[in-house]
Amino acid sequence: MATNTKSGRDLARIAFVGAGGHSSQSLYPNIPLIPEFELVAVCDLDGEKARQRAADYGAAGVFTDVEAMLDGVKPDGVCICGSPAMNHEVSLQVLTRGIPIFVEKPPAEDTQGAAELVEASKEAGTWGMVGFMKRFAPANRIVRGFMNSPEFGQFTSLTAIHGCGHHESVRNVLIFNAIHIIDLARFFAGEVKALQAYVCEPGPTRKAICANFRFQSGGLGQLNVNSGHTWQNIFEQVYLSGQECGIVIDQSNSARITSPEAQFVSGQDQELFAWGRSYSVPGAMSGWSAGGHYTRGYWGELSHFARSVLGKVPPVATLEDGLAAMRIIDAITESAATGAEVEVKAGVDVG
Ligand SMILES: NC(=O)c1ccc[n+]([C@@H]2O[C@H](COP(=O)([O-])OP(=O)(O)OC[C@H]3O[C@@H](n4cnc5c(N)ncnc54)[C@H](O)[C@@H]3O)[C@@H](O)[C@H]2O)c1
Repeated sequence: MATNTKSGRDLARIAFVGAGGHSSQSLYPNIPLIPEFELVAVCDLDGEKARQRAADYGAAGVFTDVEAMLDGVKPDGVCICGSPAMNHEVSLQVLTRGIPIFVEKPPAEDTQGAAELVEASKEAGTWGMVGFMKRFAPANRIVRGFMNSPEFGQFTSLTAIHGCGHHESVRNVLIFNAIHIIDLARFFAGEVKALQAYVCEPGPTRKAICANFRFQSGGLGQLNVNSGHTWQNIFEQVYLSGQECGIVIDQSNSARITSPEAQFVSGQDQELFAWGRSYSVPGAMSGWSAGGHYTRGYWGELSHFARSVLGKVPPVATLEDGLAAMRIIDAITESAATGAEVEVKAGVDVG
């Protein structure tokens, strides 16, 4: 951790591995807007990509080899964004040096790999965050806070729907897209105890996956994920019910809460139904991009990572959460194959 004497602020010296499509579109553009985030180096096997991102965002170091970058720059934290295999391999390289990571989802190709990252972080006395940006979307954060209130009461049920663009396999729908909504379900409703899932494949790239969840809290859940949309038109909704209270979240962007308070308004000879509460984040709050880096949580996850590196906040959306999501994916796969309800292994315990 370093204090930048020019600004007098605490700055986390963070390096980035991967300068490809997602990172360039949705991650790097946040860095200038995070006061605690100092980009010290960019590493990519493609040196030109690394040089370009470093130039765009003010990093002095340009590398094509991760170990050389870690030796040369000694960063306080490292962001990793590549294929699932690259996420796993590079995460291990960084964690074993005791350096915290932010790694895109999925953190590895399989559950074994995700568990290895948790183990490596524990052995090295460090930690990691996974790119579950939906936890940082303002609408979802406000709803999570509201769920703690007596007005929401006890969580009863969740329905989560996600329609994405085409994928060639059910596995890819699960590890690239469903993983986000699975993590969001855990964020709102806690650990999944058991589930029963069904899969249908109406076309080579069109897949549908439905699952019923029993949460450890006793609440219930439904997951409905399909790859029948286009990538320009991803659809997502979450419904949550408490006690006399319901919430609908649209696209992780706006939320409507109905609660017992002021639910009925008197009219002449009739009672007019009115919403008790409403909360909405307009797209304009993205601030600098119609892509909604703030609204969708990309700014929040990287800001949180930088502040966690500085020890100001505990990490959330951790490697343990990544492992838990991968275990739910395994259980969905097993249940879809056998038709049986499957118990989900507890998320935090590695063994
Ligand atoms: N959270 C989201 O909304 C979201 C959206 C899209 C993609 N993603 C995730 O982002 C990741 C894909 O990122 P991308 O689109 O930037 O991928 P990409 O394939 O475009 O880029 C990956 C880059 O990593 C580099 N690379 C590979 N191995 C390396 C190594 N050992 N050392 C250094 N560089 C290496 C490659 O040269 C490439 O430039 C996936 O994990 C995907 O699931 C997340």
